[in-house]
Amino acid sequence: MKTLISEEQIKEKVTALGRTISQDYEGKELLLIGVQKGSFIFLADLVREITVPLEIDFISAQSYDGIESGILEIFGKIPVVKGKHVIIVEDIIDTGKTLAGVIGKFKAEGAASIAVCAFLDKPSRRASLVKMDYKCFEIPDEFVIGYGMDYNEKYRNNKFIGILSTEELVRK
Ligand code: IMP
Ligand code: MG
Repeated sequence: MKTLISEEQIKEKVTALGRTISQDYEGKELLLIGVQKGSFIFLADLVREITVPLEIDFISAQSYDGIESGILEIFGKIPVVKGKHVIIVEDIIDTGKTLAGVIGKFKAEGAASIAVCAFLDKPSRRASLVKMDYKCFEIPDEFVIGYGMDYNEKYRNNKFIGILSTEELVRK
């Protein structure tokens, strides 16, 4: 496994992002909604760097099958977003298909505002037009794992962002 982004680099960016969001949402009713499962570590670190009052919820949405984007599915109950300033927290925006579906749902449910916050941005494969309000890093078109992100459900607990070797990719 190769390191793409180190633990130290992650910590520095997430801390700075927390500060920015705290300034932007001063006096607003803030609701952070993490997209399961990949966002769980980023969300946990990010909320501890935000100093304004906030609520946390999760949704499960998936448009991935192995390493390729597929059909979007949103599972379970949709959080109550009416009148709230929502930030959707994603691990990584790749094609943007997952996110486009999620934003549509929240708009229809009457959120006061909707912003998108992703730990990683992989802009080269973007298919849907999504505006990204906050991000930590832009990365090239590589399949990455760690800091919540998986390869066939493994490697989410890796502390840094890594790129798997061909052998590791074959092994599953
Ligand atoms: P999108 O709908 O194509 O933008 O897919 C976004 C979702 O696919 C992310 O939330 C991740 O769960 C997953 N994903 C995209 N790229 C990667 C990657 O490089 N490693 C692991 N998961 C990824
Ligand atoms: Mg995801």
